[in-house]
Amino acid sequence: MFRVCFVCLGNICRSPTAEGVLQHLINKRGLGDKLSVDSAGTADYHIGKRPDSRSIATAKARGFELPGVARQFTAADFDAFDLILVMDQSNKRNVLSLARNDSDRAKVKLFREFDPEIQALNQKTHEVSAEVPDPYYGGDEGFEDVFDICERSAEGLIAHLEARGWR
Ligand code: 4NP
Repeated sequence: MFRVCFVCLGNICRSPTAEGVLQHLINKRGLGDKLSVDSAGTADYHIGKRPDSRSIATAKARGFELPGVARQFTAADFDAFDLILVMDQSNKRNVLSLARNDSDRAKVKLFREFDPEIQALNQKTHEVSAEVPDPYYGGDEGFEDVFDICERSAEGLIAHLEARGWR
């Protein structure tokens, strides 16, 4: 079982969306017993809360459900997961500040490294920002954008894992 944990700031918008999307795609492929998915936030603001109603509504309109209640990322998560996918550079700094050794640090990657649009741009320039933008203080279009990015990046992640012989 390959174990993936998505991490954002609040664990109510981006990381639960990424979790729900990847879980859905994995189930659709019949790979639910090969990969486990979870999410966490670096902050403690929303512990115990369900995902943001705007994230739930955006996902539902596309036939996806968002699981879980918010929890905070801890150093123990480095033992519980094989891959820790952060949404932005700030999440990355916060997660890396809890890492205990090089093995922990090697597990942390930006989720959008698996977005085919970012991969295509990076063949031309290495300056592209590979972040999933925080939608919390913005309008509904930000939530649509986050969903689209998560869907592309989750497909890219599955392709990456399959190419490396996973399953
Ligand atoms: P998330 O979005 O990190 O994608 O869950 C946010 C949720 C809450 C806050 C910020 C970002 N907040 O400041 O409460």
